[in-house]
Amino acid sequence: MSTPAVEIEGLRLVYPDGTTALDGVDFKVEKGSSVCIAGPNGAGKSTLLLCIGGLLKYDGVIRVAGARSDAGHSRGRDPSVFGLVFQDPDDQLFCTTVRDDAAFGPRNLRLPAAEVEERVCEALRAVDLAGFEERPPHHLSVGEKKKAAIASVLACRPSIIALDEPWAGLDARACRAVTGILERFTGTRLVVTQDPRQAAGICERMVIIDGGRIAADGPFHELSADRNLLERHGLDFG
Ligand SMILES: Nc1ncnc2c1ncn2[C@@H]1O[C@H](COP(=O)(O)OP(=O)(O)OP(=O)(O)O)[C@@H](O)[C@H]1O
Ligand SMILES: [Mg+2]
Repeated sequence: MSTPAVEIEGLRLVYPDGTTALDGVDFKVEKGSSVCIAGPNGAGKSTLLLCIGGLLKYDGVIRVAGARSDAGHSRGRDPSVFGLVFQDPDDQLFCTTVRDDAAFGPRNLRLPAAEVEERVCEALRAVDLAGFEERPPHHLSVGEKKKAAIASVLACRPSIIALDEPWAGLDARACRAVTGILERFTGTRLVVTQDPRQAAGICERMVIIDGGRIAADGPFHELSADRNLLERHGLDFG
């Protein structure tokens, strides 16, 4: 069997103010699979992605593509392996142009300039932002910012992508655009959402997190058909 894309054992995260955000989370994500991580506000979903991304110090073990990052690390993952799209695009976009934000990752990977340019073009085309190269990210609409944030992650060509609420705040057309981007991505996908309907065509598995623990884990079609379960965990499948 191949190495899982993500393995999490005994994950616990207590923020400095004493808030326990994750309280014993264990699960594995098989390479090439697509998992929807759902749960109510404050469940610990964003915290979970930040831990997998190596951006918070936690207790427990997380391996991404076999590479372990122990408790005490908070250095971030190799962006060519694990790409994380934050819940708020303003946390992701910090350059003066869309081009520079998309180029930031590839430049950090020390790729030659021509390859950086090729990846920037490819990533901006993938999210339908060709022509936005010189625009300042802080002047973009919410949906455009989301797409620019996704492009900045895609430009590193990660094998695993994790997106935190990729459809939040988007209109129907932008939602379809984001869904299309996710459908075309061929690697492992972790998609955090409070609206599992959006993930229906993409994810084969659903993990429900509530109160910092896994409340359910199973085939997407089974869990998404269990209205009582969804309702218990603040999720809508109307
Ligand atoms: N920096 C922080 N310091 C202290 N507590 C925090 C911090 N960030 C998050 N929390 C708390 O940790 C818990 C989990 O938060 P988290 O943001 O992971 O939830 P979430 O499932 O992503 O929620 P949402 O659906 O609202 O995005 C919440 O109780 C939250 O108040
Ligand atoms: Mg969140």
